[in-house]
Amino acid sequence: MILEALEWTITPASLLARRSGLLAGQIAIRHRAQRCRALWHSHLTASRQAIQSHIQGLKRPLNRVMVMGSGHLHDCDLHSLLTQAKHVVLVDIVHPLELYWHRARSHGRLTLIDRDLSFSLSRALRGQTTVDEPDADFVAELQSCDLVISLNLLSQLPIGAHDLWTRQGQDESHIEHWAGLIVSNHVTLLQQARQALLITDSVVRLRGQEKGQPLIGAWQDLLYGVTLPEPDTDWLWTIASPQERGDDYWEERRVGARIIDPA
Ligand SMILES: C[S@@+](CC[C@H](N)C(=O)[O-])C[C@H]1O[C@@H](n2cnc3c(N)ncnc32)[C@H](O)[C@@H]1O
Repeated sequence: MILEALEWTITPASLLARRSGLLAGQIAIRHRAQRCRALWHSHLTASRQAIQSHIQGLKRPLNRVMVMGSGHLHDCDLHSLLTQAKHVVLVDIVHPLELYWHRARSHGRLTLIDRDLSFSLSRALRGQTTVDEPDADFVAELQSCDLVISLNLLSQLPIGAHDLWTRQGQDESHIEHWAGLIVSNHVTLLQQARQALLITDSVVRLRGQEKGQPLIGAWQDLLYGVTLPEPDTDWLWTIASPQERGDDYWEERRVGARIIDPA
């Protein structure tokens, strides 16, 4: 707890990242990833492999690659990206401190952009429910990249605004609608890229035992009704043990990697 508070204080972060709770959320992910190292290993490896096999299948060398939802890069190998592309652009609401060290040593080949990719948080903090269009500068940056990777981000994107709207007492069915808009806008944004690889979890279920009998719950949608193209490859991610959840169930998600074609 003390360590997390220290990280919260020293990480360079916007007021938006601090006030929305997403800085705290990202720090919590790092600690959770350490606790769940064995459980998450196959998911993190599968994400890294999906990126590598996509890049290896490309015919042309990469000039500029963007990773959205980069966070701590547990699921992406920055070193190999920097050997495969001349320039890497990482986008997240906040970047962990160590990435500033990597940037300083990258000879100008690593760019960090801190951006609310839900385009809704600053308004949500003011009690407004509008979901903005991505700004022109950001779209231009995205279109200058020859590959854009959205990395284990999509299901997380509506959470910050969803939590704020819920605390403000907004109507639940309206919140679900705006959350769906955040998800579909992100897919539309990816369609504006020259080439996009979307890696995301899309459904969740619980697994455990009840009265001595195995129980497997039904899959629940994580994307507010937004449907995605079939994945090129997919896998199961056991994201939480009963101990981590504080109840009797394992939580698992289906994750897929798919190419999003330009619109
Ligand atoms: C589950 S993590 C993705 C895994 C990440 N690649 C890692 O290895 O840590 C989700 C990431 O999305 C970011 N994120 C969540 N909501 C966001 C938002 N509204 N705008 C930008 N980034 C956001 C978080 O900061 C976090 O780094």
